[in-house]
Amino acid sequence: MLSIIDKKCMGMQNPVGIRPARPEFSWIIDSDMHDTVQETYQIQVRSLDGTLVWDSGSCSSGICSAVFYDGEPLRPRTCYEWTLAVTDNHGQTAVRRGDLFETGFSEGEPWTGKWISPKQEVVPDAFCDWPADKLVEHFGPVDFVGLDMGNPDGVAPAYYLRKSFGLLPKKRSSARLYITAGGIYDVSLNGKPVTDTLFNPGFTPYDKYFEYQTFDVTGLLEQENVIGVILADGWYKGRNGIGGLRNLYGKQTKLLAELHVRYEDGTTDIIATDDTWISSKGPYEYADLFVGEFYDARKDLGAWDCAGYIPKGWTAVTVLPHTDEVLKGICAPPAGVVEHIRPASVYRNDIGELILDMGQNIAGFVRATFYNQEPGAHIVFEHTEMLDERGHYMNSINPDCRELIDHYICCGKSSETYCPRFTFHGFRYVRISGLKGQVRAEDFEGLVVASRLDTTMDFQCSNPDITRLQSNIFRSQQGNFLGIPTDCPQREKAGWTGDVFVYSDTASYVQDVRMFLKRWLEMVRMEQFANGIVPVTVPYTKNYYYIQDCVFQAHTSCGWGDAIIEVPWVLYQQYGDISFLTDNYDAMKKWIGYVEKEASEGRTDDYEKMPLSQQERQPYLWNTGFHYGDWSYPSCRNEKGETDNLQSSINTREYVATALYAHSCEVFSKVAAVLSKDEDARYYRTLRDRICKAYEEEYIRPDGQFPLPIQGLYVLTLAMGLVSEEKAGLLARHLNQLILDNGGCLDTGFMSIKFLLDVLCRYGYTDTAKTLLLQEKCPSWLYEVKHDATTVWSKWNAIQPETGKVTCASYNHYSFGSVGKWMYNYILGIRNTGCGFRDFVVEPGFDYPFQWACGSYHCVYGDIRVAWARDGRERSIDLTVPVSTHALIRLKDCDTNSLSHYFKDRMKDGYVSLGSGTYHICYQTRPEM
Ligand code: BGC
Repeated sequence: MLSIIDKKCMGMQNPVGIRPARPEFSWIIDSDMHDTVQETYQIQVRSLDGTLVWDSGSCSSGICSAVFYDGEPLRPRTCYEWTLAVTDNHGQTAVRRGDLFETGFSEGEPWTGKWISPKQEVVPDAFCDWPADKLVEHFGPVDFVGLDMGNPDGVAPAYYLRKSFGLLPKKRSSARLYITAGGIYDVSLNGKPVTDTLFNPGFTPYDKYFEYQTFDVTGLLEQENVIGVILADGWYKGRNGIGGLRNLYGKQTKLLAELHVRYEDGTTDIIATDDTWISSKGPYEYADLFVGEFYDARKDLGAWDCAGYIPKGWTAVTVLPHTDEVLKGICAPPAGVVEHIRPASVYRNDIGELILDMGQNIAGFVRATFYNQEPGAHIVFEHTEMLDERGHYMNSINPDCRELIDHYICCGKSSETYCPRFTFHGFRYVRISGLKGQVRAEDFEGLVVASRLDTTMDFQCSNPDITRLQSNIFRSQQGNFLGIPTDCPQREKAGWTGDVFVYSDTASYVQDVRMFLKRWLEMVRMEQFANGIVPVTVPYTKNYYYIQDCVFQAHTSCGWGDAIIEVPWVLYQQYGDISFLTDNYDAMKKWIGYVEKEASEGRTDDYEKMPLSQQERQPYLWNTGFHYGDWSYPSCRNEKGETDNLQSSINTREYVATALYAHSCEVFSKVAAVLSKDEDARYYRTLRDRICKAYEEEYIRPDGQFPLPIQGLYVLTLAMGLVSEEKAGLLARHLNQLILDNGGCLDTGFMSIKFLLDVLCRYGYTDTAKTLLLQEKCPSWLYEVKHDATTVWSKWNAIQPETGKVTCASYNHYSFGSVGKWMYNYILGIRNTGCGFRDFVVEPGFDYPFQWACGSYHCVYGDIRVAWARDGRERSIDLTVPVSTHALIRLKDCDTNSLSHYFKDRMKDGYVSLGSGTYHICYQTRPEM
C-alpha cells in the first residue's frame, strides 16, 4: 500500500502566520512494495469555504519537497487546506487531506496596532565610550574573550504590560494574536500562556526587519479578558555578544500586537497595542539574555494578567512615533524547550560548594523548587560548563566574567519554583548558594532550549567513544541552533558565518535545517554590504562591526564571507531544493565580484620588487587584507604555550584566501550551470583555472611542499582540487608525513578541519585517517571524549594535556564537530551522489576497526537506514531505501558465490543496485581477503 506519512508546509505541520507569498510543501511517502517511485503528485489548495485557489495539476515528478505554491495570490490572515494526491509506478495512489496552513499579514500591509513602550529607565549606551585601544589590549592573541564583562551594569528590568478588554456577547469563531517586540516578549491571555515557544520574536537584524508570531487563542478568550506581556531586553537592547555591549538596536524595549477576534456573524474585533495599555515594573530586577535574571519573588504581581486584578501603581505606556519597520511572518520552526533532563547529581564538594551536575553540557536553564526558605533569602545560580581540576566552581568562559548568573529572592512560601524565561546559559554545572535545608536532585530539572528542528541522524558503532563523539556533535548543534546558527551558547551567541561555512553539511545530516538555514541566509543577504562584503557575523551587530573595524580594519574574511556561496550549495545538494540557488544567486555573484576586485586590485608591499612573471599572477592571488585564515590551528602557540589565534591567521591567511577564492569560483560556476547561466558558469570556471595556476606557481615548490609545514594548507589545496593530480599525489604524501611527524595528531584549524579525513581517504591514506579518528592524545576528538566532554570544544587543549588544568574556553562550539559528515559518509557509509539523495551510495565502513555500525539519515524522501556488521569473513548489511530513491551498495571484496541470487543479479562492478525497500544482504569476503 502507498501512504503519505508526513506532510509539511514551510517545514512545519499546520503552520499559522506564515508569509503569504509562496508557501512551500513537502511530504514523505511510504510503500510496502519494493522499487516504488512516485510518478505523479498533485496539490490542491482551498480556502476553508471550499474555493479552489491552486491546483498544481498532475505533475509527473518524483520530487516530494520544495514544491512552491503557484496559484492566485493568497489572502492575508487566511487559513487554507491543502490536499496531496500521489501515484506510483505500481499503479497505487494515496491521498491526504485536512492539512492546513494559515497566512499572516502581507508584507507592507499596515497594522492597526502601534508600537508601545513601557515607562522605563533609559540605560545609556556603553558603546560610544568603549575605547578601541582597550579592545586591542584585551583582545590579546589567546582567544576571543568577553570584554568589559566585569559587572552586570546597564541591565534593565523586564516590564509588565497589560490590556483588559471585554468582548461582545456574540459567538466567536476564531481568534488570533499577532505579536512582535523590540526585546523578548512572554505573552499570556487571562493568566494562561499563549504559547510554549520561547525567546520570541527571535533574533533578526532588527534594523532590517522584525519577525512576528501568530497564535491561535480561540480557546483562551472569555467575556472579560486581559492580555499580559512581560517584555525583556533580549538581543534588541540587552548586553550582547562579544564585549557585552547594550542598546544595539534601540534604547527602549517596545511591543506591537493585535488580537483579531472573529465572530460567527462575519464581523471582527481588533484589540491592538495603543495608549490604553498600561505597564509596571514587577519582580524582575533585571532579565538579560547574556547576563542572567534577577527575580525578586516578594515583588510578585499576583494575578496581574487576569480580569479583576486592580493595577495599582501601573502607568500608561508611551505610544512611539510611527516608524516603518518591516514585519515578516514566520518561515521556520520556532524555538522552545526541546528536552527535560534530570540532573546527574547534586552534592557538596570538598570546600562546601553546592554543585548541581546536569550530566551533560546544555544550552538552557534550570527549573528549581525550594521549600520553606526565609522571605528575602537570596539564592544564586552560577552556571559554568566546567569545574576546575579540583572539582571546584570556576567560570569557564572568562576569568573576569560575572555572567550566566541567575538570582532569586524568596518570598517565603512553603514551596516556590523558579525557572528563567528571558535568558539561557551554556552550562553543565551550577553552583547554588543561599539555599537552606535539605537539597534533593529531584527538585531540579534542566530545560534544554533550541529551535525545534527534527533530528535526522542516528549513528552508533561498536566503538562507544565514537558513538559518544556523535552525540557530542548532536548536542553542540542543538545548543547552538536557536533561531540562528551561533558559535557558542555561553560567550557570544553570535551568527559567525565561518562556523556555518565549515559546519553546514554536517548540520544538514544531524537535523532538518532546511528552513532554519534558509531563514538565516535571508538575513545574510540583508546584511551583505552594497559592495558585496558578507560580514563575519549575521546578524552583524554594532559590537562586531566595531571590533572588526578597530582590530582588523575588515568586516569580512575569506571563508566567513564565502559562506554565502558554500552554504546554499551544500544545502541544495543535501535537500535538492533549487531555491537555495535562485534565492542567493545575486548575493553570491556580488560576493565573488567583491573578492575578484580585491584580489585583482590589491597589491602586496613587495609588488614593485617582483619579477614580471610573478607580478603577472598577482591579480589572481587574494593576498591582501585581513583574513582569519586557518584560524586556531593547534600548534600555533604564543610564548606562554597558549593557542595563538591571531598568529594562525597571519601564517595562513593569503594561502587560505586564495584557495577559497578558487573554490568559490568553482562552486559559483557550478551554481550558474545548474541555473543555466552559461556565461557566468564559463567566466568563473576560467577564472578559477587562472587562480589555480597562479596559486601553484606562487606557493607550491616543485617537490610539492608549501613554504610552511602547516597541515591545513595541504588539506585545503587537495580538498579543493587546486593542483594537477600529479602534484596532488606529492602534496598528499607530505600531508601524511606531517601528520605522522606530529605523532599521529591533526593540526588543522577552522577552515581545513572538515576536509581532513576525507582528503586522506581520497588519496589512499585511510590508515592515517583511522589514526586521527581514534587518536586519544591532544589534539584529537577522542581526547575530548576521554575527558568526559559531552559537547565539542573550541580549543582542543581546553583541558591542558600537560597539567590537566581546566582553562577558559567555549566547551560548546560545533565547528570542530564538522567531522560528523565524514563519519556518516565513511563509517555508516551513506553518501549522496545525486541531488537530495535521490541517488546515493552505501559503502559500509568495513575497513575501519569497528565490528558494526548502524543508524539512519532522514533525507527529504524518507529514512535511509543502514546496519552493518562483520565477523571474520561474514558481512551483513540491513538497509532501507526510501521510496523514489535509488541506492548502489558497495559489497567490498565480495565472494559472489556467497551472495543470494536476488543481489547477485543486481550486482555490477562491486555494487548492488537497489530501488526502494528494506533488504538484508549477507555475504562472505573472498578467502584471500
Ligand atoms: C568565535 C568563532 C569565530 C571566531 C572568528 C570566535 O570568537 O567563537 O567561532 O568564528 O571568533 O574567528
